[in-house]
Amino acid sequence: MTKRTAAITAVGKYVPEYTLTNKILETMVDTNDEWIVSRTGISERRILKEEGKGTSFMAIKAVEDLLKNSKKKSEDIDLVIVATATPDMQAASTAAFVASEIGATNAFAYDLDSACSSFLFGMSTVAAYIEAGRYKKILLIGADKNSSMIDYADRATCIIFGDGAGAVLFEPNTEGLGMQDEYLRTDGSGREFLRVEKGGSVNPYKKGDVFGETEGSFVKQEGKTVFKNAVFNMADVCEKILERNSLTKENVSWLAAHQANKRIIDATASRIGLDDDKVMMNIEKYGNTTSATLPLLMADYESKLKKGDTVIFAAFGGGFSWGAIYLKWAY
Ligand code: UT7
Repeated sequence: MTKRTAAITAVGKYVPEYTLTNKILETMVDTNDEWIVSRTGISERRILKEEGKGTSFMAIKAVEDLLKNSKKKSEDIDLVIVATATPDMQAASTAAFVASEIGATNAFAYDLDSACSSFLFGMSTVAAYIEAGRYKKILLIGADKNSSMIDYADRATCIIFGDGAGAVLFEPNTEGLGMQDEYLRTDGSGREFLRVEKGGSVNPYKKGDVFGETEGSFVKQEGKTVFKNAVFNMADVCEKILERNSLTKENVSWLAAHQANKRIIDATASRIGLDDDKVMMNIEKYGNTTSATLPLLMADYESKLKKGDTVIFAAFGGGFSWGAIYLKWAY
């Protein structure tokens, strides 16, 4: 019997119009363009400024882009997963709203969160459903409005994060393309190094607390510790997935790595011996968009990707959580 795999058949994206440049950040915190570019590779990021608009707004726009590009029909979708660390609300799920708004009337929908690894882990979930024959058309959206939890007086975080969304459709494939292998890990002892303390069940907002004034409202990151763990672990899983599948640097067409810091991506590429022209990169224009980095890469590189290309996806994020996925591009 021919093996059934989960292949990507369409992509779409959305980034907000407002562009927060390094020059503008220079007027907000004690930083400068040279430091940000040399330490992170970021020149600008997009911010969703309009009041009352959240992650779902960008997710819906990304799906509309996908539907327009591919001529796929929303009523044929079986499942909608929104990978996000910044849902619209504590309850209900962002995915429920997105699915209804895009007209996925025959689908069920839920959110999935593992910080910057949300989309990568979502790819694994989607593959399992499709390989098992349970569902046929699954929409995986990575969307985050990071600006909703960033302190724009904290130069350690405000220079890194941006907002955006990407959407990817997965369908069954019997040509040997799509998802091939994965290596995913978490280590909960890392959660203190990248966190938002306030507003969850351990430390909910109480009467009198004010968002932004109450300690713990914003993202706090111990950058150096996260950086070291990201470099080590992302490179490690990429090496493992190559070894396990007898892949050499010559067989790899692309590295699609989470866009958190150009130095982390460069270190990963260098460990597996890849030249720059095989490394997808758009961090300079969007910064770190958490769950959206991988689908935004696919949307930006869609015209260069060819059927059969070997793509290694990798991510590292809060939790800690990390991993690598080996996929063959299907169109
Ligand atoms: O997506 C989730 C995972 N997140 C990540 O992967 C992020 C990982 N971490 C990083 O990308 C980096 O650690 C940062 C970009 C956050 C910081 O870069 P760094 O090279 O680790 O800088 P640092 O925190 O060690 O600071 C070096 C120096 C310090 O000055 P001194 O003590 O050497 O005088 C900082 O005060 O740079 C200073 N500094 C800045 N200077 C200008 C820190 N932030 C800034 C800034 N502008 N924005």
